[in-house]
Amino acid sequence: MMDMFDLKGKVAVVIGGAGGIGVGLVKGLSQYGAKVVVASRNQEAIEKVAAAVEKETGNDTFSHTVDVTSEDSMGKLKDAVVEKFGTCDILVNAMGLNLKRLVIEFPVDEWDTMFDINVKGTMIACKVFGNVMKENRSGKIINLSSVREIRSMPGGDAGYAATKAAVGMYTKTLALEMAEYNVNVNAIGPALIITPGTIHVIEDPVIAKKMKDMIPLGRLGYPEDLVGACIFLSSKASDFVSGQTYFLDGGLTVK
Ligand SMILES: NC(=O)c1ccc[n+]([C@@H]2O[C@H](COP(=O)([O-])OP(=O)(O)OC[C@H]3O[C@@H](n4cnc5c(N)ncnc54)[C@H](OP(=O)(O)O)[C@@H]3O)[C@@H](O)[C@H]2O)c1
Repeated sequence: MMDMFDLKGKVAVVIGGAGGIGVGLVKGLSQYGAKVVVASRNQEAIEKVAAAVEKETGNDTFSHTVDVTSEDSMGKLKDAVVEKFGTCDILVNAMGLNLKRLVIEFPVDEWDTMFDINVKGTMIACKVFGNVMKENRSGKIINLSSVREIRSMPGGDAGYAATKAAVGMYTKTLALEMAEYNVNVNAIGPALIITPGTIHVIEDPVIAKKMKDMIPLGRLGYPEDLVGACIFLSSKASDFVSGQTYFLDGGLTVK
């Protein structure tokens, strides 16, 4: 029987691939057979992740730096990927920045930095790799959104939420633009995912319990919880799915 989730022979680029969530997705895509390119600004971090994952799964990996805010840098990443693996079938935009600032105090340059990475960076990555997929008449794009795309919370999240609402609507609209090229564009929107960068949030047991109690499934999420949806959206199994944000949140957004 054909395995609809098999990614053998596919080339996946994960930007933010050495981040807390990115590492989990790089590993998952490689376990399902993809050749994975790990990209971000920090050469040492991406090399380390690529080497560790290749050692674990036995599938080819590659790492290359990119700054998502620069179209020139993204073009160089694309050229390196095409030279190394011939094409790009799957793009995962797992980079991001979450600056918690009350709007009445928000430094405008920090607001711009967050929008540049979360929104402009997503656009540039989709533009550059979308052209490869357009040529191929095939491709899968997965953007990292958040429950903040549709669910607000007080305490300094307005800027971040605005970037994720932008990513959500961008994903829907790009899905329409790319449909004629047989490119599926979707997003995943996690609730709080416990990673080295977010573990501090639950260091206080009272806050940890409060966070857990908010989730209908009764527990917090981990990077492994995002792998299933990422493989689905990268594979043949999702060929009739486009323009969606999948909220991976233990049921939080339906409360
Ligand atoms: N963790 C959560 O609870 C959670 C929940 C919902 C949504 N999300 C979303 O999921 C995504 C990943 O989150 P995470 O928790 O894994 O964050 P993270 O651990 O901070 O990782 C973010 C990654 O983005 C990369 N990055 C930042 N700026 C970049 C730039 N200009 N160019 C290229 N890469 C850049 C960083 O690498 P370099 O510094 O090496 O460039 C890093 O690898 C983000 O979009 C985030 O908003 C996270």
